[in-house]
Amino acid sequence: MNVVCTSPREILTMAEGIGFDHTEPMNEAVATVTNSQSALPALPLDEAVRQLEGLLTGETDLVANAANTSAFLSSILPDLNWVGFYFLHYDELVLGPFQGQPACVRIPVGRGGCGTCVESGVTQRVDDVHAFPGHIACDVRSRSELVVPVRRGGEVVAVLDIDSPSPARFSADDQAYVEALVAQFTRCQYGGG
Ligand code: SME
Repeated sequence: MNVVCTSPREILTMAEGIGFDHTEPMNEAVATVTNSQSALPALPLDEAVRQLEGLLTGETDLVANAANTSAFLSSILPDLNWVGFYFLHYDELVLGPFQGQPACVRIPVGRGGCGTCVESGVTQRVDDVHAFPGHIACDVRSRSELVVPVRRGGEVVAVLDIDSPSPARFSADDQAYVEALVAQFTRCQYGGG
């Protein structure tokens, strides 16, 4: 399948083709999943990496590519209520393209899951956001969170934040899956990171 998408309609068609109904807003469609088997990604990792490359190749605009990456992730990862980017501007993170409800615009480095990810340079996999020091609740339904650093030339320049309404939604395998997709985003956007 040729996945170099140039229109929102093509992206929606691709999402529908892999089993997600995006005719309703994401937050209306989301349901808490208690069986971890049903939270598996809709695509195997190699196929997801290939499709993301198809979405991003040939476009250099950061906002456009971050927007399509957020939409793609929301279409293949079940049981989410928010997925998107925050970009580092000096000593704070500023909201970038996302899928989900309106969110906090600025997050200081060191605050919450996102700020801690930047400060430490390490992915934050949070099973219970209410137990995480300084957690910033943009969407009250968020129960667990995965925050992956995005690097350019070795420096953290952004984070990808994914929230779920289910506690402990993200496994170590989910972390590796999302980190591989962030690495692909980095390669396509920055030419190797
Ligand atoms: N929960 C995040 C803030 C971002 S929103 O959830 C979209 C944090 O604690 O950093």
